[in-house]
Amino acid sequence: MKVIFFSHSTCMLEIHDKLLLIDPFFSGNPIFRNTNFLNFFQKIDYILLTHAHYDHVCDVELFSHKFNNILVISNYEISNYFNKKGIKTYGMNYGSFISFPFGKLKYVWAAHSSAFYDGTYGGNPGGFLLHTDEGNLYISGDTSVIYEMSIIPSFGNLKLSILPIGGKYTMDVEEALIASDFLKCEKILGVHYDTFEDIKINKKQAKRKFFEKGKELILLEKGKTIHV
Ligand code: NI
Ligand code: MN
Repeated sequence: MKVIFFSHSTCMLEIHDKLLLIDPFFSGNPIFRNTNFLNFFQKIDYILLTHAHYDHVCDVELFSHKFNNILVISNYEISNYFNKKGIKTYGMNYGSFISFPFGKLKYVWAAHSSAFYDGTYGGNPGGFLLHTDEGNLYISGDTSVIYEMSIIPSFGNLKLSILPIGGKYTMDVEEALIASDFLKCEKILGVHYDTFEDIKINKKQAKRKFFEKGKELILLEKGKTIHV
């Protein structure tokens, strides 16, 4: 499995021949100043949305217009919202694994909020637990550290967890470190930092904190890939 980091919480997963874009945030993104961002993509098969906040859903319609066959997967309310705009969606809620061609997906609890920019209700916020034949991955979405994370490894060992570390709206580095204990996961890809002034972090210090606990915090430059 390949994980490409774009900036903020936006990542792309490549699982065999399937491309999954997570929480696309390009057009309003202060550190991704490239108006031609759509040209970077030859195809996208799925968009996964953790919650309805603008910095996670703002480019869904742009991508769906370019790639007509995209399936947007999110909670029931967010799926309905985009389905009304003529986009193919799959709505789910907490509980049960659902099989897709790329693997099994479970929508899991997050402690955050979820409303669209215009105030429309965006259901409950969540994260995704993804089990594939190339390994298991947890994407927490925006959340604080929560005890519910400790149930995640009981479904199977994690190869990687994608956690926010910028603080203020989500976990900070200290909380992400506790989360990694709950998750029994040694390898964390940090997201949701440095995009805005109020979520700027000291990257060197953050990595050192993980290193001192025998864990690895991966912080990628935008557009860079890791193999999981
Ligand atoms: Ni949010
Ligand atoms: Mn956010």
